[in-house]
Amino acid sequence: RKMILLLIVACLGITTLLTFLFAPFIRSYAAGGVCRSEARLDGKTVLITGANTGIGKETALDLAGRGARVIIACRNMTKGAKALASIQAACPGAQVEVRELDLADTSSIRAFAQKFLQEVSQLHILINNAGVMMCPYMKTIDGFEMQIGVNHLGHFLLTSLLIGLLKRSGPARVVVVSSMAHNFGWIRFHDLHSQGSYNSGLAYCQSKLANVLFTRELARRLKGTNVTVNSLHPGTVNSELTRHSTLMTILFTVSSIFLKTPQEGAQTSVYCAVAEELHAISGKHFSDCSPAFVAPQGRSEETARRLWDASCENLGIEWD
Ligand SMILES: *[C@@H]1O[C@H](CO)[C@@H](O)[C@H](O)[C@H]1NC(C)=O
Ligand SMILES: *[C@@H]1O[C@H](CO)[C@@H](O)[C@H](O)[C@H]1NC(C)=O
Repeated sequence: RKMILLLIVACLGITTLLTFLFAPFIRSYAAGGVCRSEARLDGKTVLITGANTGIGKETALDLAGRGARVIIACRNMTKGAKALASIQAACPGAQVEVRELDLADTSSIRAFAQKFLQEVSQLHILINNAGVMMCPYMKTIDGFEMQIGVNHLGHFLLTSLLIGLLKRSGPARVVVVSSMAHNFGWIRFHDLHSQGSYNSGLAYCQSKLANVLFTRELARRLKGTNVTVNSLHPGTVNSELTRHSTLMTILFTVSSIFLKTPQEGAQTSVYCAVAEELHAISGKHFSDCSPAFVAPQGRSEETARRLWDASCENLGIEWD
């Protein structure tokens, strides 16, 4: 038994040593692709949800640096003001604003959109970035399960309310931050809100698959307009998204060398928002600033349409 113990310790020791030795290589591999486009966004307006921390904030900073007017929509105005100050400190002269939006409350989304449409005359880039990951069972104000409610339905409603403005401002882009986790998801049409049984991981995967299906169906419906929509996997990013799961937080902290920093994680969002070569690309999925694999359940046109109808029904809206 001593031998086995010794062996385990030796293995751990060697692994640690190798990790340190190869740290620079591991880091550059983990960092993934970089958005090489130098496109400017002077005179353009960007709206990004959930941009007070993590990749959303880094995306906002990058786009503000390209000259865009960036509007950050977040739930907590205190945190929003902090993000605004830090973006302005990092990028003097940045045109950034914060507006209040709670994606877990359809009346907040409607109030936000109404004010937005009154006060902002153009919208060129909408980034559906905000996300909830693996929270305990919770409901939104409207009684939706929190992850499908915020990650999918909240953004579905927001996009529907702003699509007219996007079309009038075209060429315009919608960018949907999904995840590789969509691979492990399926849409539980019989129990979209996990009332029968709840698994936080599966509900997360379902919501990220919904992001992919929404992107593809919206792209189909936007054909012939000057608005494109693409989804993306930002990478495995060290961010506050893991706040609901102690296990994930520990895992992410221990393995942080293998993870992207929020700035690295923002690259594919920035790429989808600005890359010149994507001007006519719509309904696609990206990762590391390159086209990425979409799981079969994310490619089903029938599922996409069915989810579209279910989403309209849940929200009590019509969108065609
Ligand atoms: C907003 O964030 C601040 C600072 O992080 C926190 O103290 C406050 O409780 C938050 N407010 C709400 C409504 O969550
Ligand atoms: C799309 O934009 C181009 C250039 O801005 C414009 O010429 C064209 O009419 C627009 N098409 C539609 C369908 O709005």
